[in-house]
Amino acid sequence: MANNNVKILGICASPRHANTELAVKEALKTAESMGYAETDYVWLGGLDLKPCVGCMKCFGWRHPADGGLECYKFNDDSGMVLHKMLESDGIIFGTPVYTLGVTAIAKILMDKAHMFGPMSFTRYSGTMRNKPCGVITVGGGDSAGQEHVGVDIWAWAIGIGMLPLGSWPTREDPNPQSGSHGAFVTTCDAKGVYAKDGITKEATRTTPPTQGWRNMKAIRNVGRHTAYVAMMTKLGKERIRELGLTEPEVFPWPRYSVKPIPGSWIDKLIKEGKVEYVPKGESSTGLDDQD
Ligand SMILES: Cc1cc2nc3c(=O)[nH]c(=O)nc-3n(C[C@H](O)[C@H](O)[C@H](O)COP(=O)(O)O)c2cc1C
Repeated sequence: MANNNVKILGICASPRHANTELAVKEALKTAESMGYAETDYVWLGGLDLKPCVGCMKCFGWRHPADGGLECYKFNDDSGMVLHKMLESDGIIFGTPVYTLGVTAIAKILMDKAHMFGPMSFTRYSGTMRNKPCGVITVGGGDSAGQEHVGVDIWAWAIGIGMLPLGSWPTREDPNPQSGSHGAFVTTCDAKGVYAKDGITKEATRTTPPTQGWRNMKAIRNVGRHTAYVAMMTKLGKERIRELGLTEPEVFPWPRYSVKPIPGSWIDKLIKEGKVEYVPKGESSTGLDDQD
């Protein structure tokens, strides 16, 4: 980026314009209040996202997969979202809890983000590494899946190299009732349990409106920490390079045994001598796998 800001992308994986949207937008607004975050927002519910069918073209070994960051099976909107992720310095991922899991559209994106992972033989492998991922999960029940859906998203984030975050209490939104482990929020005390504004203080039917306070505190803390860790990572990387400190050279596959497809990223790396092509059974060590 030309300026010294960080860019935080909010992703809403609810098919409705409702609580998750409200929560992600509140977290983005709080990220902006830190004074150095620009934000972008994407609503998966409005997009054409086709489920992954396992063609594995985007893996880069059955197909060159070098045309860009996109789904190589369907011409859908997943490439657009993946590009937004790539351009961001951190993301805030919000999903409703559906039958104790993420929503179907959340899972589509999670699968389509495979190109960022260590099993991808494309130039995008590792490009989300060390960016923070703040998590918001919204349920209609009381402790009815919010936490483990949060853990699912954390695990996904780790899988593509990101840093999963909680919602540690802050001066502005302190304990009690700030939910330090993440924004695992609920509408269970709302006047309407499945109401579209059920996470808010105004919609809480109990007095004082503890549920609404707790929800919003945790959400805002996710926003703050995502902006801060994004900046910390960005400045940290710059400083590490300035000081010439060692960075781990992430390199999942120094040896490769599948016949490389001409024009693929792995073919390029082999031609450049960065990866050794060792057809199965012809390993220099006599072993097919890594020694
Ligand atoms: C198919 C379906 C399954 C759901 N399963 C759960 C659940 O397991 N746990 C829970 O707390 N809420 C569950 N809910 C309620 C939603 O999480 C809740 O309405 C939430 O506010 C939806 O997010 P939204 O308001 O952003 O659309 C379910 C809702 C639907 C439609």
